[in-house]
Amino acid sequence: MILVTGATGTVGRQLILELKTRQAPFRVFARDPAKARALLGPVDAVAGDLARPETFGAALRGAEAAFLLSPMEPRLVAWETGLARAAAKAGVKRLVKLSALGADPRSPAAILRWHGQAEEEVRRAGAPFTFLRPGALYQNLLGHADSIRRGTLALPMGDARVAMVDARDVAACAAAALCGPARAGQTLTLTGPTALSYREVAAIFARVLGRPVSYAAAAPDDARRALDSSGTPPWMTDALLSLAERLRAGDSDVAADDVRAASGREPISLETFALDHRAAFA
Ligand SMILES: NC(=O)c1ccc[n+]([C@@H]2O[C@H](COP(=O)([O-])OP(=O)(O)OC[C@H]3O[C@@H](n4cnc5c(N)ncnc54)[C@H](OP(=O)(O)O)[C@@H]3O)[C@@H](O)[C@H]2O)c1
Repeated sequence: MILVTGATGTVGRQLILELKTRQAPFRVFARDPAKARALLGPVDAVAGDLARPETFGAALRGAEAAFLLSPMEPRLVAWETGLARAAAKAGVKRLVKLSALGADPRSPAAILRWHGQAEEEVRRAGAPFTFLRPGALYQNLLGHADSIRRGTLALPMGDARVAMVDARDVAACAAAALCGPARAGQTLTLTGPTALSYREVAAIFARVLGRPVSYAAAAPDDARRALDSSGTPPWMTDALLSLAERLRAGDSDVAADDVRAASGREPISLETFALDHRAAFA
């Protein structure tokens, strides 16, 4: 049985579809099991909260594998460390952690630093692990659907080329690492077919939607003001802007072959994502 955290989120929902297709037995770890069942269908769901280690033992009972996903959150390291240690203690044989491209315990970008530190703790915890390091999810663009609809995508990314990937590919690789040939100790870099600049992203949406969409490189200070006025918590604004700085420096201009190697299929292109989600941007 596979314990799945984050099952109601962007990657987790896709992972549940993958596990159902594979007919792999799984249990969902959810703060609100009734909400998880309403979203995912009649699944085995157990009450669990990454902030409450007392919920880990019962959730892990009988688990041979676990998918570890924390939301973007300043307590990510503590939360993931706690579950990784409990999983090792429970005898979990495969611990698949969702990390991030560029994870580094010394990164100046908080989110990459948290993932780098969490990877170190997962290694120390002792269960056989696989790290999945995706680039930026295409699905993030759904959060910019209004801007794309209005015809201007304004982001503080300069001209950087950024590795991007579909959450469906991340989920396919997670399912493969959980149920397929073991990948103990491996780190998979999950990217789409090519890194893209946001000018190219805008051009792809323009083509798919059949109307003008342009990219405007926002100044970091303007992006900060926009985030502040939208009510984004200060820690998240700092985390997003420090990540954008790394992307502008070219840290994410990467294309790897790991999606194909792990999932056995070609990575989904941004064109396909845009077509599949056309209604959300139209
Ligand atoms: N977005 C990107 O471009 C990108 C790229 C690389 C890596 N990542 C990493 O991906 C992760 C986020 O994945 P995602 O976008 O799929 O997540 P998401 O859509 O933000 O969903 C977060 C999930 O975490 C669950 N959750 C929240 N608080 C929890 C708690 N206290 N205990 C247990 N579960 C809790 C939520 O469940 P409920 O709310 O239903 O309880 C939900 O299932 C982050 O670690 C992020 O750094 C993201």
